[in-house]
Amino acid sequence: MKVIVQANRCQGHARCLAEGPDVYVLDDLGYNSTNIDHVPPHLEDQARRGALACPELALTIIED
Ligand code: F3S
Repeated sequence: MKVIVQANRCQGHARCLAEGPDVYVLDDLGYNSTNIDHVPPHLEDQARRGALACPELALTIIED
């Protein structure tokens, strides 16, 4: 699994981080700066929940 972040959509709502604290990373201004090539299996649920929680639809999950 992979997560694509569309940085131009992110408005800093931080719901991704609340749902996926071990997957998502925010920068100093609160914008999603996650750069992860491969989500390990034990974090896939967090990744999915975080992506679903984003009201700006900034996160896309690519399943393997
Ligand atoms: Fe940005 Fe959405 Fe997270 S707006 S900080 S990617 S909840």
